[in-house]
Amino acid sequence: MRRSRRLLITGGSGFIGANFVHHWHRQYPDDLIVVLDALTYAGNRANLADLDTEPTFRFVPGNICDADLITQLFETEQIDTAVHFAAESHVDRSILGPSVFVQTNVVGTFTLLEAFRQHWENQDKPEAFRFLHVSTDEVFGSLRPNQPAFSETTPYAPNSPYSASKAGSDHLVRAYFHTYGLPTLITNCSNNYGPYQFPEKLIPLMCVNTLLGKPLPVYGDGQNIRDWLHVEDHCRAIAIVLEQASPGETYNIGGDNQVKNIDIVEQLCDLMDTLVEQLPVQPARNLITFVTDRPGHDRRYAMNIEKIQRHFGWSPQYDFATGLKQTVEWYLSHQTWWQPLLSPQYQTFYKALYGL
Ligand code: NAD
Ligand code: DAU
Repeated sequence: MRRSRRLLITGGSGFIGANFVHHWHRQYPDDLIVVLDALTYAGNRANLADLDTEPTFRFVPGNICDADLITQLFETEQIDTAVHFAAESHVDRSILGPSVFVQTNVVGTFTLLEAFRQHWENQDKPEAFRFLHVSTDEVFGSLRPNQPAFSETTPYAPNSPYSASKAGSDHLVRAYFHTYGLPTLITNCSNNYGPYQFPEKLIPLMCVNTLLGKPLPVYGDGQNIRDWLHVEDHCRAIAIVLEQASPGETYNIGGDNQVKNIDIVEQLCDLMDTLVEQLPVQPARNLITFVTDRPGHDRRYAMNIEKIQRHFGWSPQYDFATGLKQTVEWYLSHQTWWQPLLSPQYQTFYKALYGL
């Protein structure tokens, strides 16, 4: 019989975290879920509001750098499982202001690890405890056109302050397993898309700008490649790794789905033309605007997902055309979700970035 868990989920009000909280609660409604989230610009309390009346759900506003708060939560809620999503996650923001990336992604992960280690040791190192760290394919750097996809043994070569801070946090997690035997797991995933993604990332930004009749900024020549995975497939993979993997393991997760940025933007424009009766600018492709490239822009990411397939039989279930259409429809039917996010601070960031 499955052992129930008491989870602390950091960053559960963000994009992937909120999808994961819903996924886990659907699958294991009797498990306790405590979400710890600082509600930065990327965290949205509304993402989990539907769970507020559930007896097995609690939301705690707070920062992963607050050691006292975390220690107290681990003890009072008798947490046995930490799933760590909280991070500064946007590459462009890390170029404009790297400091908070080091603070949250490196210092915050360290603070969480250290509190979890003390809690685990105080309980005489229970075998069932787990610390799952959610990371990214960007730690591996950039691929040339004919290079093989990243595997779990590819050397780290991060190129942005964001990916360097995530690489630093991965190394700390690895060190806590090797040094203290802390039962950790790391997942490195490719680009996610789907509901609840903040409209600064490629797909939701293009949806929102098309609806507003604003330019669609494509960086450089638009030929950069990402490996896109639907967020629900990512959440399913994390849940499987958490339940089944041995401590100390790392798993690559990806969509086996390499697409050029310009192809995504064009597909998205065509979907918008079909789904929306009257757009401010039609055809939407007329909004595509090539802009100055992102500094240090990684050319290509691709994930080799053989290990997770072989160990657990996990594979992506969404095909990209279906997932993209579902995502566009979600942004069309959830305008009250994204409109309040376009705050004056958002406009300032957007102007600093694109000058548009
Ligand atoms: P997001 O930016 O949408 O959400 C981050 C969440 O963390 C927000 O709710 C925010 O309020 C919270 N947070 C930020 N700083 C915090 C702090 N100091 N203390 C507590 N909470 C804090 O991010 P996302 O896209 O959902 O990514 C989640 C995780 O998955 C990140 O660790 C990211 O590196 C990783 N990841 C993301 C992708 C992707 O495509 N989005 C792919 C692979 C891995
Ligand atoms: O690969 C996983 C990573 O994917 C995660 O670790 C990050 O948290 C997540 O933000 C994402 O990083 P990217 O930089 O790949 O995602 P983004 O959506 O910002 O950009 C995707 C591609 O589209 C990238 O090549 C840059 C390009 N782009 C992006 C934006 C926002 C544009 O051309 N125009 C844009 O306006």
